[in-house]
Amino acid sequence: MNSTYINLINLDNKKDLLTPDTKRFANPAFDIDKYNELQKSFKNDYLQTWANLARNKLSFKKDFTTILDDSDKPNYKWFSDGGINVAYNCVEQHAKNTPNAIALICESDNGDSKSITYEQLNDEVNKCANMLKDDFGVQKGDRVILYLPMIKQSIVAMLSCNKIGAIHSIVFGGFSANALRDRIQDTQAKLIITADGAYRKAQSYMLKPIVDEALKQGCECVKSVCVIKRNNQPINLIDGRDFVYNELIEQKSNECKCEILNGDDTMFILYTSGSTGKPKGIAHSVAGYLLWTKLTCEWVFDLKKEDIYWCSADIGWITGHTYSVYGPLSVGATTVIFEGVPTYPNAARFWDIIQKHKVTQFYTAPTALRMVKKLGEREPEKYDLSSLRVLGSVGEPIDSATWQWYYEAVGKKQCPIVDTWWQTETGGNMIAPIPCIVPIKPACATLPLPGIEAEVLNEDGSITKTGEKGYLCITKPWPSMLQGVWGDSKRFKNTYFGDIKYNNEAVYFSGDGAMKDENGYITITGRVDDVINKNGHRIGTAEIEDAINFCPLVSASGVVSIPDAISGEAIFAFVVLKEHLSLDDKDYKNKANEIKNEINKELKERIGAIAICDEMVFVKDIPKTRSGKNMRRLLRSIAKGEDISGDISTLENPDIIKDIQLVVKNYKKANNN
Ligand code: WT7
Repeated sequence: MNSTYINLINLDNKKDLLTPDTKRFANPAFDIDKYNELQKSFKNDYLQTWANLARNKLSFKKDFTTILDDSDKPNYKWFSDGGINVAYNCVEQHAKNTPNAIALICESDNGDSKSITYEQLNDEVNKCANMLKDDFGVQKGDRVILYLPMIKQSIVAMLSCNKIGAIHSIVFGGFSANALRDRIQDTQAKLIITADGAYRKAQSYMLKPIVDEALKQGCECVKSVCVIKRNNQPINLIDGRDFVYNELIEQKSNECKCEILNGDDTMFILYTSGSTGKPKGIAHSVAGYLLWTKLTCEWVFDLKKEDIYWCSADIGWITGHTYSVYGPLSVGATTVIFEGVPTYPNAARFWDIIQKHKVTQFYTAPTALRMVKKLGEREPEKYDLSSLRVLGSVGEPIDSATWQWYYEAVGKKQCPIVDTWWQTETGGNMIAPIPCIVPIKPACATLPLPGIEAEVLNEDGSITKTGEKGYLCITKPWPSMLQGVWGDSKRFKNTYFGDIKYNNEAVYFSGDGAMKDENGYITITGRVDDVINKNGHRIGTAEIEDAINFCPLVSASGVVSIPDAISGEAIFAFVVLKEHLSLDDKDYKNKANEIKNEINKELKERIGAIAICDEMVFVKDIPKTRSGKNMRRLLRSIAKGEDISGDISTLENPDIIKDIQLVVKNYKKANNN
């Protein structure tokens, strides 16, 4: 059976390449012949191959004549004169063809679950779309902020924006009022859709009050707030501004015409952290995004209509957009929407849900796996997980121990693990194995998918040697690439198409380091910019520093990451207080704790709980370059307790190093690490 796999030079003598049994794959969505043919086709005619895929996989209302408009690089435009609607592709056509097929299974925090057919979903999307138009005057191109939990209505809200051509920008429910305000202001949204609150670990939590708080801080663009009732806790409704979704929706018609968009109209904006303090609004276009979303679901996850697919990511992140919502729905499959957390009521929640709904593909982040493994290593044994076919990993490098456990305890060595490398900016999976075709290798994203030209480059644009670290770049435009940074074309160009040239052309630089092995397999080594990846989420060091520096007690700060067994990376902050707290202070421990709490409170308010610092030390000064930049490389070494090697002569203040090292040493001693 294993002859279905591609031939790699070192397959036979490489024990770390695995070709799991293909018996769970009766009739794969993609096979080796199609794979080879496609690779050949891309080589012969890159653009025409994309055009064929687009016409084949998507329903266009109007065919496109231009495949790729590259007249204004790097503002690449795909399928720009095609006419298309995402809600048609993801819902309406399935409601016509397979009305009774289940679109969503909504599993709530308390374990209740509800199934919604494509026909029902279509009705609800239409009602909501009519509400957006009639009650809130939302038109094509308008921005709508969604600040929502993982419930059915949130998916409906996303799709109803697509239906009428509005641009949604989802803000993860864990972000604070300040972070929400920044995103509202940057998008100039006219409507916010939120919920009163929702449930997590059997506790009610609130969202609407956070929206109220954000709107107090200069968001004149927002005309209305639409509140979905979920936990029915008391909320404040402002007359003329705030409306209850559940009441408005009742009277709406369940018919609504699709707004036909141009292929390269903006579909959504999603904010992500970069190396400056201000998050970037990553904009994605309609047709290119949808095409890649659907293709990667079929290729990487072997996703078919009859499958029950579960991606555990929140819709507030790109993984939730692409693999909880648009990908599975574009295929016409069933997607599981989970309101709760992996550890409630216990660490077997994942396995319980998989067994209960007979999940066929499961996609999650290493950090979640590490957590449930730690709390219940043998839990998977107690559940029937035989419905599973593919297991996915995303968001950060997966360590070997977690990989092995996922492969053996969860997948029983029958499910390939697809370690998928991609980013908010890429829209969908870029480097990932394809089940039954590309042999897997533990903790390795393996090969670029067909159509994706990925290279590991040196700074000068030359290709790195086998096994050498370099910069991970995509050397050709691809359909689901970000369309730009919302409202900031300069930043788009500088961040992504700045320094690295390949064949004399500026190419997309991901911000990640990587290396290639002799089979061309790519292993991701992590971010090379000032971005931390904690719990599989991106957070910029500059963003955290800016927020820390807002504290009245603080005069400066420097933030780096250190490795962490559960969250992948932990946040380590060096803080300079206006009034220095000396190690000799009698009450050092208490005072240090108090200040740490205060600063973390500020971080929670300014950004959200994801920015909370795990470790914090108080130092007299931060090592800086002569141009005044924090020397993060040095701080990172000190935080890890490493010896300082390398040149420090460019430091503005080299004397400070010994001092900081002493503080860290004492800190580690006091905290036993
Ligand atoms: C960054 C993107 C992609 C959706 C979730 C995060 C890291 C992502 C992997 C992987 C190693 C990975 C990269 C990337 N990353 N997938 N399989 N192996 N690292 O999206 O918030 O845009 O973060 O996550 O560093 O640049 P994001």
